[in-house]
Amino acid sequence: MKTQITAFAATLFFALNVQAADAVSSATVKVNVEGTEMPANVDAVTSASVVPEAYRQAVKPNGFTREGNKVRVLFVVGDPRHESVEWDLVNTAMKHFMDKGCEVELRDLYAIGWNPVITRETFFQAKDGFGKTPKDVAVEQLMVAPADYIVFAYPNWHDTPNAMVKGYMERVFQKQFAYRDTDKGLEGLMKGKAFYTIMNCGWIGRGRGGLGDGIDKNPIWDKYLTAFKTLDDDTAGFWGMTSLGRFCNDQTPANASKNYGKEIEALRADLVKHLDKTFKYTK
Ligand SMILES: Cc1cc2nc3c(=O)[nH]c(=O)nc-3n(C[C@H](O)[C@H](O)[C@H](O)COP(=O)(O)O)c2cc1C
Repeated sequence: MKTQITAFAATLFFALNVQAADAVSSATVKVNVEGTEMPANVDAVTSASVVPEAYRQAVKPNGFTREGNKVRVLFVVGDPRHESVEWDLVNTAMKHFMDKGCEVELRDLYAIGWNPVITRETFFQAKDGFGKTPKDVAVEQLMVAPADYIVFAYPNWHDTPNAMVKGYMERVFQKQFAYRDTDKGLEGLMKGKAFYTIMNCGWIGRGRGGLGDGIDKNPIWDKYLTAFKTLDDDTAGFWGMTSLGRFCNDQTPANASKNYGKEIEALRADLVKHLDKTFKYTK
């Protein structure tokens, strides 16, 4: 009898203990389906960047004429918040290219309701070029075809192009448009074009610019930028394009900084310097 009571107590203790452990274990997935109230002043309390209204710039692209000999720059932007620092960098770059005499076209992927997903129905068209090109893809291919430079712009959401931009790459730069099979293997069809990336980041080792531009030559910065370069060079090679690298930044002014004006101007100037080092503005 005594043995039975001891065994029962031990089982009960184990069960309670397991339940308690389960309640606090990090192995237990806790899903936040209830959520909390969205604060009315979300722009003031968010950890995301918000350019104060006084410093925001609205830039209207001048569009491609499709004639003449001007350099054409297509911006493909995946960022839902027009008040972000990412968009400020896009606006800065678009304005600078226009100031330099280039034609600028903008695809604001959230604004146009871009669908980034290859489905079962569209898979073989994207993979092999079989069948009709979907209308939304055909429209984008008409934008890409005349461009000399393509600027992909997205905030760093887990170190890769975000879903909108990645889906643009997957669907628009498809077989028979961006590359094709030959007896000798794949051939890129985008020869003569180059792409560049503008990516605002939370933290990638502290820096602003490209490879080698980390603060105090921080090796972590170069590790990230080397990884991005590997991706970019591979993608560019696939399409027969040149990769012009990236402008990355993890030194965003604090939203409430007293020196916001000076700090955002310095960031814009660093981007412009990087553009001047990287691009030719005439043919
Ligand atoms: C879903 C998500 C994932 C993120 N992942 C990273 C990351 O891997 N590395 C990083 O540096 N920042 C990451 N961030 C932080 C953003 O890059 C950071 O907020 C940055 O300021 C974005 O630029 P923006 O404020 O101009 O939009 C992430 C943000 C979100 C929303």
